[in-house]
Amino acid sequence: SSDYRIKLVEVGPRDGLQNEKTAIPVSVKLDLIDRLAKTGMTTIEAGAFVSPKWVPQMAGSSEILEHLLQHPPTSAPNPLTYSFLVPNLKGLDSAVQVLTRYPDSFTADPLPPTQSKPAIELAVFAAATESFSRANLNCDIATSLSRFREVIQAAKEPPKDSASPPLRVRAYISVVLGCPFEGYDVDPHSVARIATALLEAGADEIALGDTTGMGTAPRTQELLRCLASAGVRAEDLAMHFHDTYGQALVNTAVALEHGIRTFDCSVAGLGGCPYSPGATGNVASEDMVYFMETLGMDTGVDLDGLVDVGEWISKEIGRGYGSVVGRAVLGA
Ligand code: HMG
Ligand code: MG
Repeated sequence: SSDYRIKLVEVGPRDGLQNEKTAIPVSVKLDLIDRLAKTGMTTIEAGAFVSPKWVPQMAGSSEILEHLLQHPPTSAPNPLTYSFLVPNLKGLDSAVQVLTRYPDSFTADPLPPTQSKPAIELAVFAAATESFSRANLNCDIATSLSRFREVIQAAKEPPKDSASPPLRVRAYISVVLGCPFEGYDVDPHSVARIATALLEAGADEIALGDTTGMGTAPRTQELLRCLASAGVRAEDLAMHFHDTYGQALVNTAVALEHGIRTFDCSVAGLGGCPYSPGATGNVASEDMVYFMETLGMDTGVDLDGLVDVGEWISKEIGRGYGSVVGRAVLGA
């Protein structure tokens, strides 16, 4: 919410879990979303309307959306936005089918969420390199952009006769600082061109994904300078860092200096991308909240509560607890 200096986007329930091999029950995912909401997180990425053949773990996303609309948040301290990935019109259609059954249960863009009505946001996802676009979306960048243009337009300006309200759309660009197939050689000018195309298509926000965690402070700076000189405003950007090489918070500091105030993170550092071999988790939300607190930045999130959630979900999916700050807080 705009009262906070920093907006965090909690991607654990989607980006964090999508790569888990064992199917995680919808009830556990809903429990995770509920617990995260209670910590004060304002924006939670809750699922993905993608092909279940490509990402089986996201298969229950309709059920998740339906449950979230049927049960408005009761004890969350802040109004909530739930975000869902959609790769194409088929994904949008699956989301809209659920939304049209609960037209009074959420707010439509540009209305802000309220305590009793969450906002629903969609996210499309492009890539900065051709090889990653093929691996993740089975098409080249130009084709993906023309599909996203259609998806964004249909989401933001639904036909008059449809029961669907206008929705906010975020647009990811993956592998902006390194690609599992093309290495470090990702051209910042291509990122700027893709970002501009997505903003012109109507995207409300561009999330720059360092999918492989190969970003460094100087290269993050180079990228953000290039975007600024291409006319992309800091307020339209979010950073999505992965901590594979332990550089996520260093890169976050660089992005803060460039005026960026929206950051993605994943509770317990869960995650990895199924089409990015070897990619580890997103930067842990606990580490991000702690870092922002040391800078005097308000995230609206209760760190101790978040650590409890991180410890709980790690046990639940049988993983070691991946947040450095979380382990320190627990004295473990
Ligand atoms: P395709 O095979 O080219 O699709 O996949 P198609 O249009 O040819 O359709 C093939 C089949 O898929 C058909 O079914 C369609 O109905 C079905 P069949 O007739 O064979 O039974 N299909 C769908 N089913 C459900 N939902 C849909 C959908 N679309 C088609 N939306 C496609 C193209 C885009 C669908 C596929 O490549 C896909 O689902 N990709 C998603 C991959 C993904 O989710 N990756 C992870 C998210 S991105 C990420 O994690 C990075 C990020 O976090 C940023 C960062 O970390 O940097 C965002
Ligand atoms: Mg990611």
